[in-house]
Amino acid sequence: MRVVIAGGHGKIALLLERLLAGRGDQAVGLVRNPAHVADIQQAGAEAVVCDLEEASAEDVAVLLAGASAVVFAAGAGPGSGAPRKDSVDRAASVLMAEAAGRSGVRRFVQISTMGAGQPPRPGTDAVWAAYITAKTAAEDDLRARDLDWTILRPGRLTDAAATGQVRLAAPPVPRGTIPRADVAAVIAALLDEPGTRHQTLELTGGDTPVATAVRSIC
Ligand SMILES: NC(=O)c1ccc[n+]([C@@H]2O[C@H](COP(=O)([O-])OP(=O)(O)OC[C@H]3O[C@@H](n4cnc5c(N)ncnc54)[C@H](OP(=O)(O)O)[C@@H]3O)[C@@H](O)[C@H]2O)c1
Repeated sequence: MRVVIAGGHGKIALLLERLLAGRGDQAVGLVRNPAHVADIQQAGAEAVVCDLEEASAEDVAVLLAGASAVVFAAGAGPGSGAPRKDSVDRAASVLMAEAAGRSGVRRFVQISTMGAGQPPRPGTDAVWAAYITAKTAAEDDLRARDLDWTILRPGRLTDAAATGQVRLAAPPVPRGTIPRADVAAVIAALLDEPGTRHQTLELTGGDTPVATAVRSIC
């Protein structure tokens, strides 16, 4: 399986690239910074330099030719302001989905966030509100497309080691944390289960093995 990962140098993306390479799949990480290429290659993936705030859907569609799936793992990240929540967390996801449609890549796993899907709470910090608004808009765009999408909303991410045990279900799942390594494992499993298409799923740490959790929602 050839899987193109938007935001290929992200923390979840690098973990996912290692998992995919380890099981014999071909991962391709899209990065905007050429200095990140070596890290992607070290993870066992192919790197392509592509700034998702500059590229057109046509440009990205060319990069997706021959892929089996797209994973949207990009994000403007901490320290960014509201404009980049819109240009990355929303617009880059829309761009990837549009490109997937144009190039005939049907499978699309989007990393969203718990809290998306409803308006930001009154009094919320403006940048956090922009983030939630951007993620919600990216989800809405993806749901409206004729793609085999799965939207994954993790809880607060940690860099702890993988536990292999999660709680994965349709919303609402109680708030919680989840190691990025477990998110990567869930995405790898979702890619193998087309039966998870057209589902919005929330994810935290839990007590169900990843494979069982993914099978149970098919
Ligand atoms: N933090 C949390 O608790 C939390 C909770 C739930 C969901 N999430 C979401 O989970 C996702 C992945 O999280 P993570 O921690 O793995 O993210 P991360 O390490 O911050 O990685 C995001 C990646 O997106 C890339 N990116 C940003 N702008 C780009 C552009 N214009 N073109 C190409 N790539 C670009 C960044 O590259 P550069 O290094 O070049 O900037 C970075 O490598 C994000 O969407 C995040 O919003 C986070």
